[in-house]
Amino acid sequence: MAEQVLRHIPVMLGEAVEGLAVRAGGRYLDGTFGRGGHARAVLSRLGPDGRLLLMDRDPAAIATARAEFAADARVSIRHANFSSLAEWDETAAGLDGVLLDLGVSSPQLDEAARGFSFMADAPLDMRMDPTQGESAADFLARADEREIADVLWVYGEERFSRKIARAIVEDRAGHPLTRTGELAGLIERVIGRREPGKHPATRSFQALRIQVNGELDSLRQGLASALERLNVGGRLSIISFHSLEDRAVKLFIRDHSGRVQGSRRGPPIAAAPARLAAVGKAQFPSEAEQAANPRSRSAVLRVAEKLS
Ligand SMILES: C[S@@+](CC[C@H](N)C(=O)[O-])C[C@H]1O[C@@H](n2cnc3c(N)ncnc32)[C@H](O)[C@@H]1O
Repeated sequence: MAEQVLRHIPVMLGEAVEGLAVRAGGRYLDGTFGRGGHARAVLSRLGPDGRLLLMDRDPAAIATARAEFAADARVSIRHANFSSLAEWDETAAGLDGVLLDLGVSSPQLDEAARGFSFMADAPLDMRMDPTQGESAADFLARADEREIADVLWVYGEERFSRKIARAIVEDRAGHPLTRTGELAGLIERVIGRREPGKHPATRSFQALRIQVNGELDSLRQGLASALERLNVGGRLSIISFHSLEDRAVKLFIRDHSGRVQGSRRGPPIAAAPARLAAVGKAQFPSEAEQAANPRSRSAVLRVAEKLS
């Protein structure tokens, strides 16, 4: 596929990098390199003593990072899930900022062979790191009807999760479900086209992607590890693309900000000492950005600072 098709337009670039409050001599980590839009902007603000650590779980993203930055002594690159960032010895010296631009990149969506899209027929894979874990096809072959339905409901808010799960289990008895086209066709057959302008498989594909990549567990672990590694005054700058991710980020910041916890009916639970403070409110892409890059539409940016 032509390189031009595999480009990624960075989302909320100015706002997310601004959120890191980059100092020329600071040490920063971009846990979701993608095609490097945010990383390049951070690097342009670093002086000769600054450091930029790059991670991505996708080997194709890491190959791009190596091709572009291997010769830059300020940059270190690691192919790994950002959930393991604290295990990277480069982070042991502390970090002044961690940027996570969550979800999938345009190249992942646009390269049909990765199996993320219902728009083209391809192997039903959906792994950001195709060298590890089970593919979407493997999951649909092994999970029982209830587990499939729960994934579609919880991660995709798919109203017809039970109907779709039943159809998948019936269908796979005849032959394994191995292609994106088969799954998209099955879902359309079972629930029809109900939401104008939205393919009926949209929610199910999102749900399977989150399941296959363990996205929410990675996010929670990654945030906890980032907080451990951040220096006092260091920043988290996190861009989410769906409500489950944004909720996890929002709760993480709240739970570490020393606010009194507990339900309205129950007694307040003594808050742990504050370790994080939200910086401003949630930010959203401008109308101009949304018009220029429709994939930015669901983005939410949250910034927080580590306290002493
Ligand atoms: C939205 S793209 C990032 C785009 C990037 N900021 C840019 O401007 O090019 C998300 C990237 O994060 C990677 N990714 C998602 N979850 C990850 C995780 N838990 N660990 C490491 N990389 C992850 C994906 O493989 C993908 O390349």
